[in-house]
Amino acid sequence: MLDLHCHILPGIDDGAKNTDVSLELLEEEKKQGVKAITFTPHFHVNRISLDDFVRAREHSYNKLMSVPEVNDLGIKFKLGAEIYFSTKLNDLDLDELCFTDTNYLLIEFPTDERPYGLTHTLIDIINRGYQPVLAHVERYPYFTSDPTKLYDLIEKGCIAQINSGAVLENNKIAIKYIKWGMAQLISSDCHNMKRRVPNLKDAYRFIEKKFGDEYADWFDKNARDVFNGRYVDMTMPKRPKKVMGMWF
Ligand SMILES: [Fe+2]
Repeated sequence: MLDLHCHILPGIDDGAKNTDVSLELLEEEKKQGVKAITFTPHFHVNRISLDDFVRAREHSYNKLMSVPEVNDLGIKFKLGAEIYFSTKLNDLDLDELCFTDTNYLLIEFPTDERPYGLTHTLIDIINRGYQPVLAHVERYPYFTSDPTKLYDLIEKGCIAQINSGAVLENNKIAIKYIKWGMAQLISSDCHNMKRRVPNLKDAYRFIEKKFGDEYADWFDKNARDVFNGRYVDMTMPKRPKKVMGMWF
């Protein structure tokens, strides 16, 4: 398995606060069977300049790599970011925020109101040659109340990621997204060992049980394709339909 969304880099965001916590998280990732990880610390264009963020991420990464036990884990690492959505993203060179050597960008959104310019900004990002991965799509009320809005973005070239924690909680909409083929990636979004922990193996087992091995294999293949910068072979999702007030 591969984990493409996590907050393991030390001292850079609300994730691991030091290298001890980072190492604990990485050891748990290894126990879970994770072989490759993309580090995705939060990036907020209104709070930090791109240059300062890239410098801080480099510093944090070097600090982590200086811990000998980290190198002994045999896990492959890449850098990335969890980018907070803003229309200002169109004024930025996003290359440094992509998962290393790929054109994949992990983007998160506000969890209250649908932000102004969401669709147009994502389309502009796609037209510039990037591939947006939409972080934890089970969290946004403007998608969950009308999943066709998310379907339309997937059709335009976005990839939808759900959190392993939501799967394990049997989150209704996360389960429906899986059923509809509307989530292509599962990641841990782990922050520390108490809250949002590394639990990918548990989520994959849950999916195997509920949906069958082929679903779990499909998620794993998608994660490998994204990590390696290949196109994800999208099984076209089913467009949800509303019947008697319920989405099917
Ligand atoms: Fe995150």
